[in-house]
Amino acid sequence: MKQVGFVGWRGMVGSVLMQRMREENDFSLIDPVFFSTSQQGGRGPDVGKDVPPLKDAYDLTELAAMDVIVTCQGGDYTGKVINDLRKSGWQGYWIDAASALRMNDDAVIILDPVNMPVIEQALHQGVKNYIGGNCTVSLMLMAISGLIEKGLVEWVNVMTYQAASGAGARNMRELLQQMGEAHRVAKELLDDPASSILDIDREVAGTLRDTNFPVANFGVPLAGSLIPWIDKAVTNGQSREEWKGLAETNKIMGKKDRILPVDGTCVRIGAMRCHSQALTMKLKKNIPLDEAEDIIANSNEWVRVIPNEREATTKELTPAAVTGTLSIPVGRIRKLAMGDEYLSAFTVGDQLLWGAAEPLRRMLRILVQ
Ligand code: HSE
Repeated sequence: MKQVGFVGWRGMVGSVLMQRMREENDFSLIDPVFFSTSQQGGRGPDVGKDVPPLKDAYDLTELAAMDVIVTCQGGDYTGKVINDLRKSGWQGYWIDAASALRMNDDAVIILDPVNMPVIEQALHQGVKNYIGGNCTVSLMLMAISGLIEKGLVEWVNVMTYQAASGAGARNMRELLQQMGEAHRVAKELLDDPASSILDIDREVAGTLRDTNFPVANFGVPLAGSLIPWIDKAVTNGQSREEWKGLAETNKIMGKKDRILPVDGTCVRIGAMRCHSQALTMKLKKNIPLDEAEDIIANSNEWVRVIPNEREATTKELTPAAVTGTLSIPVGRIRKLAMGDEYLSAFTVGDQLLWGAAEPLRRMLRILVQ
């Protein structure tokens, strides 16, 4: 059995990875070894079999004893370790949730339901670095890669509605603190059916702008508001999150010659862990709506077309309905008033599952089966 080292398994993405691996009985296929950046010698997690005490995540000799290393520890850790580990001659597989190596030529972005041929070719060529994609990009491709694969899409405009979890566990807590605070200041008026809604609104607006409102992580209110900027600025007024749309989509799809333009505005909203996206696709030709729906529905086993009706949409195409599941619903599919070649769609996905942990888990399976 292959020795598989895990780093960063205690964090949010790492915990989801552990949970999914237990559910799928993946630990029966490997000899797991758990590493820690701070608690070497401590006990590893319960994975249904004996595991050695935690090893030092900076010990290159211990790391080099692994056939595969799976890390959810973050980009700083990757940066500190990977070059020296490779220089020491280590030839193992590096599976990473962080973006640090993602765009390197010697790395593949993994999303096997979408790009298994790209992964297979890389394995054949001896590529050793397999990196999870940006959550928004991975979730978009789980939804519409069928159309791209068939060469039907000229460009994609994507408007995102991204959950707090994408910013981290502390941000999820802060969102709830903000919601609680907004409720607290309005509670008395809210409990009085005769109170004025404008008075309630004034209280809430006042607390959102109050210097004591909890904003240590987001920097600004998210509850009762939104944040139309995610990550650092790059060039041309684009945020880094928006830049990833084109860069990662084309890398995942293995498109080197004819680049598919993907661009839009990335927005943080007050959902917990599901990212939603409104997509406008310019098609290369006018195809019937039911044909587009069939292509989307048949592109992988997790995607589901939701009928473009109010009842089904409001029940099934929301973060509340999708959270904690692998389901990728795609709905609101219709032609836009701009013309028959303009296709609109809306999709929702759990950013901790398909957006983070699941592609890593499945890559490990590909390597050890
Ligand atoms: N960058 C994403 C976000 C999450 O901020 O929502 C990680 O891919």
